[in-house]
Amino acid sequence: MTIAIVAAMHEELSALLAQMPDEQRVRVAGRDFWVGHLRGQAVVVVLSRIGKVAAALTATVLLERFQVQAIVFTGVAGGLAPGVQVGDVVVATRLLQHDLDASPIFPKYEVPLTGHARFAADTEISDSLAAVAVGLLADPVALLGQKVVDDFALATPAVHRGLLISGDRFVSNAAESETLRRALPDALAVEMEGAAVAQVCHDYGVPFAAVRTISDRADDEAHGDFTRFVAVVASRYSLALVDAWLATLTPPT
Ligand code: ADE
Repeated sequence: MTIAIVAAMHEELSALLAQMPDEQRVRVAGRDFWVGHLRGQAVVVVLSRIGKVAAALTATVLLERFQVQAIVFTGVAGGLAPGVQVGDVVVATRLLQHDLDASPIFPKYEVPLTGHARFAADTEISDSLAAVAVGLLADPVALLGQKVVDDFALATPAVHRGLLISGDRFVSNAAESETLRRALPDALAVEMEGAAVAQVCHDYGVPFAAVRTISDRADDEAHGDFTRFVAVVASRYSLALVDAWLATLTPPT
């Protein structure tokens, strides 16, 4: 069994890549697919680049060329729901493209001809990622160090599970995030790739999960908060979450 670990940006995955002892680089469609092992588990680690098309293409290559049997997306997201704060972790149960609207021909948000607007994440992988995240966030200082916890006010991070929404827009003002909150009141967080990969995995019948750390509140301060968080914190979270999750899987015999 080979598992794909995907993030949109280098900063979200760099620490994880540094942990691969035996990686081989395979270049496809301008992307580096790092094939090797993490925690004894066969993996392909790749940067999708940003946005839904880039992510969908990357997922398709992972499935067709590398025959991965599951895809886990990691990285950061902007918090939307009131209690979803910087430093929290969101594990998606369902994913939706908030900028997809073929109405009145199809219901708003529905991916035409699929009958679905909300694509389900794999329950088993998501449960396991959430359990791992709860364990890690119980001790943020062990995870991030005292200075980072103080600098980013990450003393009591929480794990949330629910709807993650994706679109080809960095949401960086309060009016836009309020519009999203009104339209999709159960959305926990917003990013730019997950729902596209969920759609591809649905079409292939391959399990998918997404775990995102909240880097900003998708408001007027989002750009500055995002930039600082991605530079300093994001990679540590991705490494800790993915590494601890892989450690829970039974190593192949
Ligand atoms: N990823 C992290 N923060 C985001 C935001 N505010 N909008 C879209 N994607 C994001």
